[in-house]
Amino acid sequence: MHDAMKVIIGLVIFLGLVTAPFWFNTVGGTSARQPELVVGTDVKECIEPTGWMRAYHMDLLNQWRDEVVREGKKDFVSSTGKTWEHMKLTGTCLDCHTQKDKFCDRCHDYSGVKPYCWDCHIVPGKEGK
Ligand code: HEC
Ligand code: HEC
Ligand code: HEC
Repeated sequence: MHDAMKVIIGLVIFLGLVTAPFWFNTVGGTSARQPELVVGTDVKECIEPTGWMRAYHMDLLNQWRDEVVREGKKDFVSSTGKTWEHMKLTGTCLDCHTQKDKFCDRCHDYSGVKPYCWDCHIVPGKEGK
């Protein structure tokens, strides 16, 4: 009886330890999840809420490309109704996120993502490189 109890308690503690990183991430919010990022601007908000941008910026960029290249659209109207005069990878995103290497790249390296966009799109200030 007592031994069974000890095994159960042991199991509970073991499971708690194994899943601890998960709980810390969920409850703690930020730490351990991403590297230190340099946003690169004095502006306080992104074009959409930060959490949404973190999760969906790649989809938004795809949408922008399609709208600009295929449909000839120019402006972006955010979910809050604010209008941005252009939808450009470098001209819009990097206009605020001026230090691509300490923002986009840092997070992508950390996540093991390698967007191929920069084969064609030129990072401002890096022409001829
Ligand atoms: C093979 C070359 C090439 C690659 C790779 C590429 N693009 Fe483009 N992209 C273009 C060209 C050409 C245009 C049209 C430019 C224009 O109309 O001014 C364009 C336009 C765009 C636009 C709209 C206008 C602008 O200047 O930003 C977006 C947004 C965009 N691309 C996003 C992306 C993203 C995101 C990636 C990577 C996932 C990517 N592109 C990869 C060539 C490329
Ligand atoms: C007007 C300036 C501005 C523009 C334009 C802008 N951003 Fe942002 N972005 C910000 C700011 C400021 C934050 C940080 C907001 C915060 O701290 O809550 C941010 C946050 C983000 C985040 C989340 C970072 C994190 O901490 O997880 C991502 C991802 C992002 N932006 C990508 C983009 C992309 C991609 C584009 C272009 C499609 C873009 N941003 C355009 C200002 C901008
Ligand atoms: C907070 C972390 C973070 C930041 C900051 C960030 N990204 Fe990303 N990005 C990701 C992750 C994670 C993925 C992969 C998502 C997936 O595969 O579902 C990704 C994917 C992408 C993709 C699609 C790549 C592909 O091959 O499918 C593009 C394009 C992109 N990011 C552009 C940007 C640009 C431009 C910036 C800077 C303005 C930026 N990201 C900043 C985390 C980030």
